[in-house]
Amino acid sequence: MIDIHSHILPGLDDGSRDLEESLAMAKEAVREGIDTIVATPHHANGKYWNDSTQVRSAVSLFREALEKHNIPLDVLEGQEIRVYQELLEDIQSGSSIMLAGSSYILLEFPSSRIPDTIEDVMHELRLLGITPVIAHPERNAEIAQCPDKLLRLIQLGALSQVTSHSINGLFGKSIQECAVNLCRRNLVHFVSSDAHNMSNRAFGLGAAYDAAAGLLGHEYVTYYQANAESLIRSQSIEIWEPSSSKSRKWYQFWK
Ligand SMILES: [Fe+2]
Repeated sequence: MIDIHSHILPGLDDGSRDLEESLAMAKEAVREGIDTIVATPHHANGKYWNDSTQVRSAVSLFREALEKHNIPLDVLEGQEIRVYQELLEDIQSGSSIMLAGSSYILLEFPSSRIPDTIEDVMHELRLLGITPVIAHPERNAEIAQCPDKLLRLIQLGALSQVTSHSINGLFGKSIQECAVNLCRRNLVHFVSSDAHNMSNRAFGLGAAYDAAAGLLGHEYVTYYQANAESLIRSQSIEIWEPSSSKSRKWYQFWK
């Protein structure tokens, strides 16, 4: 399996605290069947600043440690970037980076709302040939209340990623329902762990795919897995047609 969103690098953010924890997380990832993981430390969220130089250095050191400990996990570079004023300049200057060297960038919104500037930012990103992947939309209050706001962003060219624990129910029933509904409406393109630690925020990716197979159908699991592979290979992503809020296909599910 490929995991495109994780906080596995040591000491950069609120994820792994140190190398020992990162190695334990890496072993757990491999045990679950993850062979490739994109390290996406928080960047520009007001608390953490991890520019490309810091991320690449940390990835390089961690890859060496994994090799030394014979842990067969391929770690690739990335960031989870809060939408901020200088984002476009920083992409052009190289201090903000894409996922795994692709043309896809992982964007984080505040939990309470969608940034006012998002449509302008998306337009500029698209002009640069960059596709934004919106991290965990199911945990954004504005999207949870009105999924059509995510539909609008998808129609403008964004993709989205739900968190494994949302599908698994770890964050509660309402977030699970929201996540599954977004999936049903084809507003989701990836499932990934957003793993932070070994205690309450580990991977759960295999479990999420199992849950998704039961709740949505195996074809969704195949779709998410193929999309993650396409992303790390810098290939275009197959995009299923999203459905409107009036579609019974998704609405029926929670009736
Ligand atoms: Fe994250």
